[in-house]
Amino acid sequence: MTEPKKLFIKTYGCQMNVYDSERMAEAMGGKGYVQTDTPDDADMILLNTCHIREKAAEKVYSELGRYKGLKADKPDLKIGVAGCVAQAEGQEIMRRQPMVDLVVGPQSYHRLPELEAKAREGKKALDTDFPEDDKFETLKNRPKAKRGPTAFLTVQEGCDKFCAFCVVPYTRGAEVSRPAGRIMDEARELVERGVRELTLLGQNVNAYHGHDKGLGGLIRDLAKIDGLERIRFTTSHPNDMDDDLIAAHGDCEKLMPYLHLPVQAGSDKILKRMNRSHTAEEYLKLIERLRAVRPDLHLSGDFIVGFPEETEEDFQDTLNLIKAVEYGSAFSFKYSERPGTPAAERPQVSEEEKDDRLQRLQALLKEQQKALQDAMVGREVSVLFEKTGRMTGQMVGKSEYLHAVHVEAEGIAVGELAKVRIASSGPNSLKGVLLP
Ligand code: SAH
Ligand code: SF4
Ligand code: F3S
Repeated sequence: MTEPKKLFIKTYGCQMNVYDSERMAEAMGGKGYVQTDTPDDADMILLNTCHIREKAAEKVYSELGRYKGLKADKPDLKIGVAGCVAQAEGQEIMRRQPMVDLVVGPQSYHRLPELEAKAREGKKALDTDFPEDDKFETLKNRPKAKRGPTAFLTVQEGCDKFCAFCVVPYTRGAEVSRPAGRIMDEARELVERGVRELTLLGQNVNAYHGHDKGLGGLIRDLAKIDGLERIRFTTSHPNDMDDDLIAAHGDCEKLMPYLHLPVQAGSDKILKRMNRSHTAEEYLKLIERLRAVRPDLHLSGDFIVGFPEETEEDFQDTLNLIKAVEYGSAFSFKYSERPGTPAAERPQVSEEEKDDRLQRLQALLKEQQKALQDAMVGREVSVLFEKTGRMTGQMVGKSEYLHAVHVEAEGIAVGELAKVRIASSGPNSLKGVLLP
């Protein structure tokens, strides 16, 4: 028997990349590759990259630089770049780093095995097409091995929104939804393999239209699968939050009370320039409607500070919106100029101003996050246990609000759901006691 070849995948960026990396590893499994967790003994290295901000893209080149020695010692080593940087600057990567053998864009992963074969013949292989066929259908099925209690499942890809700062519509292409039947099959299979919580993924997941009743309809169908206990989805756009999906937050028990709903900014002037096509008021109204059906809903968001022409007053509007919402968690970024996007051409805010605003914004978000976490003390939550803790006898899981919860628990296993009374709140997690 021949030794299996080793594949090292390094994943950057969003959860969709995490899901794609899993699927690529499976596809390469069909070609005799097993995954390794170090580049040192790999026969193939694949970087699954992110282009969202300048720093993210630059990481790819510095990481490639580190592999020079490896490639010199092992000329058979093949190096590939996948993901959004591959899509945005595939040719440029091959020019800047001649040791790259293979470049594959996010919509062409089902062609990875062919591209690898081409690279093995010593040819350069590049595929950044947007083919018509569904990459997930032609990627080899997931092997039936047992897996952990949580999994991602991509249901939608691409984006038609064209926010003025964002590269995603260019790197991932137009919005495409996978048919509901195929998602149901994949979900059932994941549940058979031990998954109890699914996070449905899409760059604009609530624009999903592979089910005649939209994402709400898909979630209600998934909720009928025995053994699947929890459903989440990310990332949503405020304008695609339809009535049925809002209602599902009230009447679908398996849909968790946590919603990532990015708004980016709180000033209507900036929202308009960002091409977000909603106002701050409309966003707040939407949250009111969601909280009316699910009062304990925890919200999460994304914010950009220092978007071109953002004044201190505009920034104050963002702080005010944050105060009005009270977020359970949030991600915030300094605006980063992305080549080819409209906002990159506009008058820029200084780096010092961006730094200062980011600090103030993050201080407020951190305070809110901590307050909501501390408010869990004394409450009863349900915890899905994901792993053993660092201390013996300790187990760690996530509450329905995505808080990490530690308990002393003899006899409880990974994958079990249990009721826990929260006893204390630490810097990044909660501690609790199992309830009988
Ligand atoms: N589809 C999602 C998120 C896509 S990218 C949505 O519509 O919300 C994830 C986050 O990165 C965005 O929400 C935004 O806050 C941030 N982001 C995107 N482009 C950026 C840029 N050029 N500079 C800084 N942050 C950016
Ligand atoms: Fe980017 Fe806007 Fe699309 Fe989100 S909705 S992926 S921020 S263009
Ligand atoms: Fe990054 Fe592409 Fe995701 S740019 S955030 S990896 S869609």
